[in-house]
Amino acid sequence: MKILVTCHARAPITRAVADEVASALHADVDLIIPRQTSNGVVGWLRSAYDTTFDRPTDVVAPARDLDAYDVIVIGSPALRGAVAGPVRTYIERQRVRLRTIALFTTCDDCTGERAVEQMMVLCKRAPLAQLVVRQSDLKSGQAKTDIAKFAQRIASRASRHVAA
Ligand SMILES: Cc1cc2nc3c(=O)[nH]c(=O)nc-3n(C[C@H](O)[C@H](O)[C@H](O)COP(=O)(O)O)c2cc1C
Repeated sequence: MKILVTCHARAPITRAVADEVASALHADVDLIIPRQTSNGVVGWLRSAYDTTFDRPTDVVAPARDLDAYDVIVIGSPALRGAVAGPVRTYIERQRVRLRTIALFTTCDDCTGERAVEQMMVLCKRAPLAQLVVRQSDLKSGQAKTDIAKFAQRIASRASRHVAA
């Protein structure tokens, strides 16, 4: 079973969750890289501006061959209750290759669910599993348990899905 975990490259908390999911699943990691990459405050402001005004964000083509994977796990921070622009572009461009998916978001409060639902609509399919990781869950340690359960659900449902 080949699993790829991918997420917004410029999203440190989401990336840390992606690394944990990948480690639990022995999966490869690939990053969604915005094409206009300014570093530091300028990059942060640009990304906030793009999100605020819902501007389409160009992304670099994936480094991995998505067709080689049985499952693709996609992660995004929730920004203003929505999926991050680069992740949206990635899904729109790669949709045909995203046959079996799992989705997660990170957020400060409860809008992570909205962003996951948006990702489902963009993917045009239901995920094997979905997860919202809140800052409070990361602080309390609850996120570790949730991430482990998320990975277990992906592994067990993926093997049934591939066998079917
Ligand atoms: C521009 C911007 C908008 C955000 N909007 C939301 C939001 O609507 N709801 C929420 O719960 N968190 C929001 N957040 C917080 C992030 O979703 C949260 O901190 C996330 O874990 C950040 O992940 P990252 O470090 O991977 O980017 C926002 C953060 C930024 C920078």
